[in-house]
Amino acid sequence: MKLPQLKIGQLIPRYPIVQGGMAVRVSTSSLAAAVANAGGIGVIGASGMGVDELRDEIRTARRLSTGIIGVNIMFAIRDFAIMAHAAMEEKIDVIFTGAGFSRDIFGWGKESGTPIVSIVSTGKMASIAERCGAAAVVAEGTEAGGHLGTNHSIFEILIDIKKSVKIPVIAAGGITDGFGVAQMLKLGADGVQMATRFVLSKECAVADSFKQMYLNAQAEDVVLVESPVGMPGRALRNPFVDKLLLDCQPKPEKCLKCLKQCSKKYCIMEVLENSRIGKVDEGLVFCGQNVYKIKEILSVPDIFSNILAEVESVS
Ligand SMILES: Cc1cc2nc3c(=O)[nH]c(=O)nc-3n(C[C@H](O)[C@H](O)[C@H](O)COP(=O)(O)O)c2cc1C
Repeated sequence: MKLPQLKIGQLIPRYPIVQGGMAVRVSTSSLAAAVANAGGIGVIGASGMGVDELRDEIRTARRLSTGIIGVNIMFAIRDFAIMAHAAMEEKIDVIFTGAGFSRDIFGWGKESGTPIVSIVSTGKMASIAERCGAAAVVAEGTEAGGHLGTNHSIFEILIDIKKSVKIPVIAAGGITDGFGVAQMLKLGADGVQMATRFVLSKECAVADSFKQMYLNAQAEDVVLVESPVGMPGRALRNPFVDKLLLDCQPKPEKCLKCLKQCSKKYCIMEVLENSRIGKVDEGLVFCGQNVYKIKEILSVPDIFSNILAEVESVS
């Protein structure tokens, strides 16, 4: 099978593969630049960073790559507008936005010439995004990692979303290899977004114990948890999650008011940061549903060559 061309505004990556943005410094410049260099779209997860930190990450990614670099900003964060404007001032190639829906960003994107890609889970939202001016949509199924907008599989929603819009549709959730990519393309996707597979790369900057949790995961370890953001999140079962399920998780000591709305049940930024720096037992380890299918840490170029060979081997 041949990979199709993915066109987002004027951007055409060598391969139609987007690395999903991952909040709280899971996808930083090192991973995004490696993916961009390999011919995909590398995405910095802006949520959980400070605005100066985001600017630094974009500049570092630019030094490391001449490929396509995007940022992912969750609408749920209080500084959404500040982050979006900063990314545009830094001349980011593309902005991905989910966890809520901003209409304003399409106007800002038009003014600065930045294509906006909305992350959606229904045909209705995809169609609204297209009417607002989205250059493409990511169709994210329940198999995805992190915060989830649906309990429907990517196999169900992709067809509905594809029927609802003319702009490119990028499938996300549970894709771990080239066979998964080929499956999505056969269902009509114009490209794919993968995140969990890229956490298990040499270039992803999370602590080794975070990666080891992924490598040791069994299917039954992947659970849904309640997030203070107000959406369910997909994560790995660990001592923190066990406490959360019993509602005896540590309450936040300080609050930086980083979210527009927060249940204050626990501090999502603190627990995501804990796992990123290696305190995995005190942290939340977000992951996609098919994490247990990935058996090794590879370099980003090797991940790409495997995917390309697998896609090619499918008739
Ligand atoms: C650790 C982690 C953090 C994530 N953070 C974000 C985020 O900040 N914003 C977002 O839109 N999606 C986020 N996601 C979702 C991914 O970008 C992606 O769409 C999804 O995980 C794809 O499924 P996969 O991981 O099975 O490939 C996150 C996923 C993971 C695993």
